[in-house]
Amino acid sequence: MDSKTGKSGASGDEVAAGRDANHVGHAEPARYREPHRPGFHFTPPENWINDPNGLFHDGERFHLFYQYNPYDKVWGSMHWGHAVSADLLHWEHRPIALHAEPDKLGFIFSGSAVVDRDNSSGFGNGALAPFVAVFTHHSRYDVQVQSLAYSNDRGNTWRMYDGNPVIANPGVADFRDPKVFRDRRSGRWVMALAVRDRISFYGSANLKSWAKLSDFRRPAGAGAGVWECPDLFEARVRGTDESRWVLLVSMNPGAPNGGSATQYFVGDFDGRRFTPEHTEALWMDHGPDQYAANTWKIRSAGEERRIVIGWMNNWDYANHLPTAPWRGAMTVPREIGLVRTAAGTRLVAEPVRELQALHGRTVHESAATAIEGPFEPCGGQALPELLDVELALDGRAGAGASLLIRMFNDGGEELLCELDTSGPALTVNRDAAADGMESYTGFARRIAAPLQPWAADSLRLRLLKDRSSIELFQADGPSLATVNYFTEKPLDRLEIGPSRAASRLALGSLTIREIADVWRSGPDS
Ligand code: FRU
Repeated sequence: MDSKTGKSGASGDEVAAGRDANHVGHAEPARYREPHRPGFHFTPPENWINDPNGLFHDGERFHLFYQYNPYDKVWGSMHWGHAVSADLLHWEHRPIALHAEPDKLGFIFSGSAVVDRDNSSGFGNGALAPFVAVFTHHSRYDVQVQSLAYSNDRGNTWRMYDGNPVIANPGVADFRDPKVFRDRRSGRWVMALAVRDRISFYGSANLKSWAKLSDFRRPAGAGAGVWECPDLFEARVRGTDESRWVLLVSMNPGAPNGGSATQYFVGDFDGRRFTPEHTEALWMDHGPDQYAANTWKIRSAGEERRIVIGWMNNWDYANHLPTAPWRGAMTVPREIGLVRTAAGTRLVAEPVRELQALHGRTVHESAATAIEGPFEPCGGQALPELLDVELALDGRAGAGASLLIRMFNDGGEELLCELDTSGPALTVNRDAAADGMESYTGFARRIAAPLQPWAADSLRLRLLKDRSSIELFQADGPSLATVNYFTEKPLDRLEIGPSRAASRLALGSLTIREIADVWRSGPDS
């Protein structure tokens, strides 16, 4: 931890001096009005958050736990914060689920949670299936072990298992972030654990005693940072009856645009061992601000959905974001799937369909137009702060697709997204949208995200804009880039035109919709 935070481990004193860690209540619409406060992304009322943890759906609600320091706006003294939601967008804050135990096994680092339907763990008390959290305890001496906690009241209260740890440390410093799932093929629980430059797999019948199954070592060329926060799941290849296994691994440092980001591998998992079908490093999102991605699985009306959420931040500067009284946010939840491309099987992602329910006014809608220079679709009017922009560009890859989206204000602040045919890659420039971040060298830099080749005559892109982030998606393709930005005033104008190297933009269609603020809409808003 020390390398990324500059801190010497979370100290026990902080906990002794801290306030009651259960102080977190429900979000009130009166709050969440601070500058930069996201309108459709998850943030805690106050203090520091990092990774999403323990993602599961209990049949009615999605649970989101998260790395949380209830005492400060910087990383340290980690607990598991908790929130629940029926639709992945409106969240109800719940009391802290897992409290740091600095004098015992330690702080509560990342991990996962499951519904133990058959009570294989024996934690159940007869009435309800227990929820079991599997997480890393990180001691004040920097020793990491794996532990359990359980809930017999559907996640309202949690108890530490008195037989912790369930996996002792074998003598490695980085030994953390267990992701547990029920493997249908082997009929047992499987754990993926990040161990510096490999993922170790373990198996268990009861969540309490674990046996090592195999190691997946990082292939040459996949970077040199520390691996963290794995996830492993099976997904169908769209348009086929085939499925593949996907292994997500977050890596810090060494991301394509600096600092931390999430890699993925596509391959097979036979119940013991993961075998990738490619050698090159693939990234879930090329932007600088998508990390520790993890997934929910939900089955409803015969349909299985895999939804990913990430921490919208980068360890290079996470402790310095100019927000108060909170620091850190989650990405918009995204539905992911696999598609077959000429280069191999690849992940695609789109904002969850639930987001449509937040669509407000359509601020602009136009069909095909050829554009010679930059134009403001809303004719210079101030735009709402939260936007969903969908556009289609005519033209095959490498054959004239060019675009510049400029979000700006009358104070000279701007955020640029540019697509040039030379890559083809989308670039984002936030140099003039880095208010308060000027001294962090990692923040202002050119951000490039390669596009997936597109087959049809039209490239469709989607941009979600919140008060301090944008997320860019290629329709039927990947999430391209998640990028935080900070401006003194809202970027309330938007201009679209050809890229700076081109003279013409063939716009197929353009729709700009307002997105409702989920935190500010309420009885007293
Ligand atoms: C990833 C990470 C995890 C660890 C947690 C600690 O961002 O470093 O590996 O469990 O943060 O907060």
